[in-house]
Amino acid sequence: MSALADGRPVRWGVMGTANIAAAAVMPAIRATDGCEIAAVASRDGERARRFAEDHGVAGAHGSYDALLADDEIDAVYVPLPNALHREWAIRAAEAGKHVLCEKPLALNAAECIEMQAAADRAGVVLMEAFMYRFHPRIEALIRHVAGGAIGEAATIDATFTFRVKNPKNIRLSPDLGGGSLMDVGCYCVNFARTVFGAEPTHASAVTVETPTGVDGRLHGYLEFPGGRVAHLTSSLLDERREYCVVGGTEGHLTVADTFLPGTAPTEIVHFAGRSEVDRLRFGGVDEYQLMVSHFADCVRAGTAPRYTAGDAAATLRAIAALRESAAGAGTPVAVQQENT
Ligand SMILES: NC(=O)c1ccc[n+]([C@@H]2O[C@H](COP(=O)([O-])OP(=O)(O)OC[C@H]3O[C@@H](n4cnc5c(N)ncnc54)[C@H](OP(=O)(O)O)[C@@H]3O)[C@@H](O)[C@H]2O)c1
Repeated sequence: MSALADGRPVRWGVMGTANIAAAAVMPAIRATDGCEIAAVASRDGERARRFAEDHGVAGAHGSYDALLADDEIDAVYVPLPNALHREWAIRAAEAGKHVLCEKPLALNAAECIEMQAAADRAGVVLMEAFMYRFHPRIEALIRHVAGGAIGEAATIDATFTFRVKNPKNIRLSPDLGGGSLMDVGCYCVNFARTVFGAEPTHASAVTVETPTGVDGRLHGYLEFPGGRVAHLTSSLLDERREYCVVGGTEGHLTVADTFLPGTAPTEIVHFAGRSEVDRLRFGGVDEYQLMVSHFADCVRAGTAPRYTAGDAAATLRAIAALRESAAGAGTPVAVQQENT
């Protein structure tokens, strides 16, 4: 993989004028040493110009192709609707740009593998922008569970819901890869896989459809080897609710605001039965910045990121099985495994 010349900043391009770019990732790039935003792009030239002006960025391109043709860009951030991730990540890689692409990395596992192959051919870094797992609290949780703090981990309850009120929101569009499972359920699936350190074998789910034809709410169940289970709730119809509980033979750990804790201090509460055993406290950090910083380190050093497209593919295999089960009124479906 190609590395950057010593001391040179990573020059970023931002593809599209997405809310998440403006709200979290552009500020994180700006706040990261050795990173600068060189240009933004929109399908609309005037929108690109205004976005650039609003965010103090020098370059504005009226098409994504023009951004990719810009020699002053080393890496692109792709916060496009999910159905466009594959195409633009591959085109970016082929243009020699490193790619930080929003979650879920693609629509399915096959697309993730194609994207990684394009990145490998071009010698660029490709990473899915799942920022939550760069938070030290999540890293500590993974270590605690693996270290036996709650005995044998057996169950995970993972919930992420919020209400989408604008009928034009990309999350309500089947054509753009919308739905609660793809938007927020993907965090729950990724969390369960990461914390158990294993892949689910079977999935079952029931959903409530929106009038636009995406799952507005999903209740899912993932079975892992050894009788372990994860129960997931995702929704675009219910007010915000976001928490995870990891239960084991000797206790449980609760993680409030698991995925978006903001920059305030956070904690994990450790219970044994009804007794609080410990309250692990973590200082406030910007998890988006920790993600950007790791990605930029990989770009500078020419090394693979901690979380690969293979990991994203595994999350999407579980998502595919949950969707298939929901389409069959909750009948359990085997999760396709890598290389099967
Ligand atoms: N990691 C996180 O915390 C987080 C949070 C929210 C969202 N996300 C992810 O980030 C991505 C964007 O989400 P968002 O809510 O920020 O989206 P958004 O505000 O709707 O922005 C999407 C952008 O994509 C561009 N676009 C290109 N083709 C489009 C089309 N056919 N329809 C609509 N927009 C189109 C638009 O920019 P131009 O028209 O200007 O080109 C638009 O501004 C999604 O993959 C989502 O899952 C991640």
